[in-house]
Amino acid sequence: MGETLRIESVVVAFGGLRALDDVSTTFEGSQITGLIGPNGSGKSTLVNTLSGQIRPHSGRIWFGATEVTAIRADRLVHRGIARTYQIPRVPLQLTLEEVISVPLIYGRGREHLLPGLVDAISIARFCGLAGSVGRPCGQLSVTDLRRLEIARALACGPSVLLLDEVMAGLSHSDSTAVISLVQEIHAAGVAVVIVEHVMRIITTLCHRVVVLNNGRLLASGTPPVVLADPAVREAYLGKGFAA
Ligand SMILES: Nc1ncnc2c1ncn2[C@@H]1O[C@H](COP(=O)(O)OP(=O)(O)O)[C@@H](O)[C@H]1O
Ligand SMILES: [Mg+2]
Repeated sequence: MGETLRIESVVVAFGGLRALDDVSTTFEGSQITGLIGPNGSGKSTLVNTLSGQIRPHSGRIWFGATEVTAIRADRLVHRGIARTYQIPRVPLQLTLEEVISVPLIYGRGREHLLPGLVDAISIARFCGLAGSVGRPCGQLSVTDLRRLEIARALACGPSVLLLDEVMAGLSHSDSTAVISLVQEIHAAGVAVVIVEHVMRIITTLCHRVVVLNNGRLLASGTPPVVLADPAVREAYLGKGFAA
């Protein structure tokens, strides 16, 4: 089972702007938690903070029983926190298996990989990339680039996986396939935190949802309860809210 991440009164400020404003919540180690909110509400900032790319100005972060507030991103990877990026960046001339090999070397260690995953090729296959092995990343489709983001994060050997809009821009059928992949990863014992705009994906995947608005925690709970919350609906009005 994944480990629980807990944040307590976290503040992240960029100049005068509070991207996270006194946010406290828990991401359970046994669950898939959705992180939603309008554009600019602080979702990616929270992912960056949980993964150690940003150190909060105040507040504390706990990973299991250990406080990790001041621990750097590369050290958190070794403790089991891996993430994907909203905007995938890959060296275009490298093959996807070369890209996956890097976290296999510098991540948490192969003994932490999911059962059946032993090398870059097996990870690529597990992530639905078998047909693209050997291709340089510059030739990959958007779907494959999204799958590669997940493959790279899995190659770190995580117990918690943070996914930042990993299905953005995918067709209905491609996102359905990636939903299954995320479910499979969770079934293998990895906790998942997923930033996502499409409510179909949130309601299909998530045990619990956390809603941010203007850097503040607006609501949290099960998807049906949170999505029926008038304050949540209002935050999305005019922003393409579709339940
Ligand atoms: N590195 C940064 N420097 C300055 N402002 C930032 C930076 N990162 C994010 N912000 C601001 O913080 C707010 C939250 O951004 P972000 O976390 O990316 O939102 P979301 O992922 O929910 O769309 C936005 O107003 C954004 O412009
Ligand atoms: Mg974002």
